[in-house]
Amino acid sequence: MALYSEKVMDHFRNPRNVGVIPDADGVGQVGNAKCGDIMKMYLKITDGVIADVKFETFGCGSAIASSSMATELIKGKPVSEALALTNKAVAEALDGLPDYKLHCSVLAEQAVRAALEDYETRVREKTQ
Ligand code: FES
Repeated sequence: MALYSEKVMDHFRNPRNVGVIPDADGVGQVGNAKCGDIMKMYLKITDGVIADVKFETFGCGSAIASSSMATELIKGKPVSEALALTNKAVAEALDGLPDYKLHCSVLAEQAVRAALEDYETRVREKTQ
């Protein structure tokens, strides 16, 4: 069996939603101290829905595939659903990752959560 699924290879070679949203409503950046990989997520949120999402990932192929899949999983979804995104869901949607690469999908979950927390902080600040 190949080490990486077709889906991982596809999202690594043709990552979806790469880039920056200059006027993002929420931005989250996370990193893994051990491997040094960094992931940044940008969210545009309209009426409580993820209207747009983009990412920049400086990291391994699994991190790029995980970020790409995470953006696909939350795009068009309500914030509440995006908040519930787990690394398990990302890895499953990629048809699995090798055990020692599971932390790459954790990074994707954390990046989405960090961007959503940034969004919620901004909303709170605006309403104060
Ligand atoms: Fe660290 Fe992939 S090796 S995120």
